[in-house]
Amino acid sequence: MRRLDQLLANLGYCSRSEARAWIADGRVTVDGEPAEDFGQKARPAQVRIDGEPPDHPEGLLLLLHKPLGLVCSHEAREGPNVYSLLPERWRRRNPTVTSIGRLDKDTSGLLLLTDQSPLVHRLTSPKHKVPKRYRATVDRDLPADLVPLFASGTLLLDGEKDPCAPAELRLVGPREAELTLTEGRYHQVRRMFAAAGATVLTLHRERFGSLALGDLTAGQWRELPLDFFGVT
Ligand code: URA
Repeated sequence: MRRLDQLLANLGYCSRSEARAWIADGRVTVDGEPAEDFGQKARPAQVRIDGEPPDHPEGLLLLLHKPLGLVCSHEAREGPNVYSLLPERWRRRNPTVTSIGRLDKDTSGLLLLTDQSPLVHRLTSPKHKVPKRYRATVDRDLPADLVPLFASGTLLLDGEKDPCAPAELRLVGPREAELTLTEGRYHQVRRMFAAAGATVLTLHRERFGSLALGDLTAGQWRELPLDFFGVT
């Protein structure tokens, strides 16, 4: 049960004071009757807003094909962000819709977005070792001995004292590879290749755990069931 003004504001319909006006104007019903009071408590299933059920009252989990050029940060000074792709109402939700881990501005591919913080914590925790698969092109031919080096669990990134966890590298061309990581350190893929003397030219995330982009084109998303990962 949630207060009606809080329900509308948290789902991004309007501010709390606007919600009070919407309720006074009879735009909100509970069990088919105009709400009596903005402090009235109701379950989302009982509520209609302008005749419609509330928009995703239990939360959002989205699989986005992140285009190049957008950041995952909410900080306006960091430039245009992935949330700008979402409907305005979702951008105003509280809790905020945020990314599960981050992809760089210059990385495209599979990015999960949610307003469920337990999911963010669970899926970004190194403890849970969710495999993430990237495809990278680089500026020079990759030697075959990079495969055992990345798999060895001994690769040290510049400025770090703990080596990277074993990672699976598959060379798909002289300058192209797939890399599967179970961690998510800052700029990890770029820094792993840099440790081997190569600069990443393009980077795309193809998979996150069992999830793939399928038919989604850059900028498109699809919804996943909130219990997809079995976290509540
Ligand atoms: N590693 C990177 O270097 N960048 C990303 O966006 C993701 C992983």
